[in-house]
Amino acid sequence: MKTSIIPPHGGTLIDAVLTGADHTQALESTARLPHLVLSDRNLADLECLATGVYSPLTGFVSELDYRTIVKEMRLSSGLAWSIPVTLQVPEANADRYPLDSDIALMHPDGTVLAVMTVISKFRPDQTLEAQSVYGTDTEQHPGVKALRAEGEVYLGGPIQLLNPIPHNQFDEYRLTPAISRRRFAECQWSTIAAFQTRNPIHRAHEYITKTALEIVEGLFINPLVGTTKKDDIPADIRMQCYQTLLKRYYPRDRVILGVFPAAMRYAGPREAIMHAIARQNYGCTHFIVGRDHAGVGDYYGTYDAQHIFNEFNADELQIRALKFEHAFFCKRTQTMATAKTSPSVPEERIHLSGTKVREMLRSGQMPPPEFTRPEVAKILVASMQTP
Ligand code: ADX
Repeated sequence: MKTSIIPPHGGTLIDAVLTGADHTQALESTARLPHLVLSDRNLADLECLATGVYSPLTGFVSELDYRTIVKEMRLSSGLAWSIPVTLQVPEANADRYPLDSDIALMHPDGTVLAVMTVISKFRPDQTLEAQSVYGTDTEQHPGVKALRAEGEVYLGGPIQLLNPIPHNQFDEYRLTPAISRRRFAECQWSTIAAFQTRNPIHRAHEYITKTALEIVEGLFINPLVGTTKKDDIPADIRMQCYQTLLKRYYPRDRVILGVFPAAMRYAGPREAIMHAIARQNYGCTHFIVGRDHAGVGDYYGTYDAQHIFNEFNADELQIRALKFEHAFFCKRTQTMATAKTSPSVPEERIHLSGTKVREMLRSGQMPPPEFTRPEVAKILVASMQTP
């Protein structure tokens, strides 16, 4: 029997990778176009746009979509979308990129990656954007800092990818939505939970992903590998942790690991919506949202990223949020649990903060097995000790 996979957000999976004769012609024409060198965040967005991770977006957002996204968490078509995907340039360079013309998007190494038709050029109110999307305007917030650093003038328009974005790692885990959809169909899974993470998988993560696996047929572990803040564990170390953990602690035929190329924005609730939409595009039916999803510091309430799903009707977001309370190791019952399932008092609960774990790792101490599997702890300790 053929398995039917959930449709992409908006109904069509975007594929903006140009091939064939059009490709050769477009590539030749880029020599005459103004060049724009992309930042790491732009590169991550370009990859997501070209391969349909951000379907239905076909390019960097226009002013019209930007405005409705910031104000109403909707595209101008009315479709749900929570964070504007922007291409920004400093005011001083803006004249190089005229409206209604094509421009070449370049990798910093000089490779032409894509061509974009500039259909919109605007200078928005970044304070309003920061307040609406991140809930704060302070540059202490890494997402706001990145937003301010990228330039005041925004260019919007459809893109077409002409050359693959160069990568030197995770090749076998770069599953585009077209590939993940095929893989899910081959597995004959009709319900799939996606797990977003920017951390090694600790016991709390393991608990919530396995609880999800009790009710869905497949698990898509989809760690973010785009830009993260400096003190997050680098993606290559995390990938070693995931591979090691999956080998020993997860059922082989019920889990697929694939990387999520996006950059981290730390926009908490709004990013949870964007993360969920992207995972629907990968073909997932459910999306795991735990405590302080995509959060940083104290900018968001513990469960704000869960509450925000109530702002969308069932027909606006087809992927379903699987919401989990704060999980911890319960000393009384000797299991992972949440307050929903454990009779423990706070003193009987082990939950280490990221900061505490980083301190332990730096001093060569293994985090306890109640917090992380020893095989994962070993990789993390070793990585902290290599200069
Ligand atoms: S995130 O920025 O990618 O959200 P992280 O990797 O820490 O950060 O979290 C991955 C997912 O696990 C998120 O949905 C988050 O809410 C959830 N999560 C992290 N820690 C816990 C915990 N102790 N209990 C419940 N959910 C958690």
